[in-house]
Amino acid sequence: MSAAYPLEDRSDWPAVPAMPPLPEGWGLGRMSALDLEAVAGIEARAYSHPWTRGNFENSVKAGHLGLTLRDPAGTLVAYAVLMPVVDEMHLLNITVEPRRQRLGLGRLMLAIVLATSHAHRIRTMLLEVRPSNTGAIALYQAAGFAEIGRRKGYYPAEGRMREDALVLRRSWPEAAAANEGSEGRA
Ligand SMILES: CC(C)(COP(=O)(O)OP(=O)(O)OC[C@H]1O[C@@H](n2cnc3c(N)ncnc32)[C@H](O)[C@@H]1OP(=O)(O)O)[C@@H](O)C(=O)NCCC(=O)NCCS
Repeated sequence: MSAAYPLEDRSDWPAVPAMPPLPEGWGLGRMSALDLEAVAGIEARAYSHPWTRGNFENSVKAGHLGLTLRDPAGTLVAYAVLMPVVDEMHLLNITVEPRRQRLGLGRLMLAIVLATSHAHRIRTMLLEVRPSNTGAIALYQAAGFAEIGRRKGYYPAEGRMREDALVLRRSWPEAAAANEGSEGRA
C-alpha cells in the first residue's frame, strides 16, 4: 500500500528537524491520563514485552514528554515518549497501532519527535532498539541515526533469555543555513 501520509519521499529528512505538516484532520496531542487506556491497549498488541499502563502513568507523572497522534476520527494511532536529559533527548517509546503500520505513520511520528526535540533546543537524540527489530532500525537509519554502542542483555526476551540493545544516536546542527546543500543525514 502506498503511503497516505507526509514524508513520502524517503530521503526527506532535513538536516535540521522541522515539524512535518499533519494530514488534514489529524491531531497531535500531549499524552495525558485520559490516553492511558488506549495507549496501553496498543502497546500490548505491538510488543512481545510491552510497557504496562502503570509504566506509562509513571512516565507521564515523571514529566516525560508523551505525544499522541490521532486520525480524523479521533482514534489514537501512534504515540511516543521522550525524556530530556540535560542536552540530550532520549526516545523511550515510539509505537504505531499494529493495524496501521507500514503506512508512513512511524516515519511521521519520528519526524514529529525529532522536531519536538529541536523545539526544546535539544540537538541530540538517543534511543535503544532490539537488534532483531530490523524494521525500526531501517526507519531510524533512514532518519540519520547511527549505532554508537550496545547494551548487553538489556531487554527481556523469550523464556528467560535476554536480548542486547543497540544504542543509536542522531545529532543535528543549529538551524541557521544548516539545511543548505545537504539532504538528510546529521
Ligand atoms: C517501528 C514502527 C514504529 C514503524 O512504524 P510504521 O508506521 O510501521 O513505519 P512506516 O510505515 O513509517 O515505515 C517507515 C520505514 O521504516 C521501515 N520499516 C518499518 N517497518 C518495517 C518492517 N516491519 N519491515 C521492514 N522495514 C520496516 C521501512 O524502511 C519503511 O519504509 P517503507 O514502508 O517505505 O519501506 C512500528 O512498526 C511499530 O510501532 N512497531 C512496534 C513497536 C516498535 O518496535 N517500536 C520501536 C521500538 S525501538
